[in-house]
Amino acid sequence: MRHVKTTSTDPALLVGLDAPDDAAVYEVAPGLAMVQTVDFFTPVVDDPYAWGRIAAANALSDVYAMGARPVTALNLVGWPRSLGFEVLGRVLEGAGETCEEAGVSVVGGHSVDDPEPKFGLAVTGLVDPVRVIRKTGGKPGSALVLTKPLGMGIISSAVKEGVADPSTVERAVGIMSALNREGAEAMVAAGASAATDVTGFGLVGHLLQMLDGISARIRFSDVPVVEEALALARRGILPGGSKRNREAHARYVEASALEDDELALLFDAQTSGGLLIAIDGDTTDSLMRELRARGVTDAAVIGTLEAGDGTIEIVR
Ligand code: CO
Ligand code: CO
Repeated sequence: MRHVKTTSTDPALLVGLDAPDDAAVYEVAPGLAMVQTVDFFTPVVDDPYAWGRIAAANALSDVYAMGARPVTALNLVGWPRSLGFEVLGRVLEGAGETCEEAGVSVVGGHSVDDPEPKFGLAVTGLVDPVRVIRKTGGKPGSALVLTKPLGMGIISSAVKEGVADPSTVERAVGIMSALNREGAEAMVAAGASAATDVTGFGLVGHLLQMLDGISARIRFSDVPVVEEALALARRGILPGGSKRNREAHARYVEASALEDDELALLFDAQTSGGLLIAIDGDTTDSLMRELRARGVTDAAVIGTLEAGDGTIEIVR
């Protein structure tokens, strides 16, 4: 929902469609704002329980990306009768368990007949308005930290084509169903200046949204990736969304040092990806300590923000 203008003149609306972010922020009382977001999609794995867990972690992620705490959620279901409601039960069970893990109450929902199954949640969170972390706000010299490895789109594509091996699927399900809560707590504790979560537009697409009059430099060898995804990309497994990301964003990227398949990972559309955090260079160590202390072991410093005009240089 980018490039949509709102006509809202409500002064309590702190983040809306005028400058869209991961979620909307509405001040309900002094020192208290409500955070709202919604996300749903078609299955990314075969196991309905895992799909429910992933869809919930993904929907909650936009609240975490704002530095906020999710509190309630509503289920959104599109379901074909032919598939049976037992399968839907497993989806809802997975989502419910992830919400419970997050301390989020599922308080309702809505379902419609749909020839293609779809599932997701609308999530409401709370935050102190002065502590909201937006996409933009990073400065040249800031470090960039990514908290989950890339490759989820490629692996989901391999699942659909029936060529993903079980251990790779298991690893990907673990990554996609992991909450971004710990990453969010760590970035708030360390005083991050900007953040977003890496989802459908891939690392490059979401990083571009953080570049408001600045540029970025990424070191590919520091970017966490699932190795099997690179192997699958070399075999030509690539989802349509990742190809479209590349067509849309390649012109902002200078990456002549990289092989084509390596670059494909940086454009790969993620589901329930990690947080991409910008933090003052001086406090990067403190953020990495906070992340490790909370068990976010895949997190890595992947590059820096630089003076520039909205381009990304990727070196080996
Ligand atoms: Co987001
Ligand atoms: Co979203």
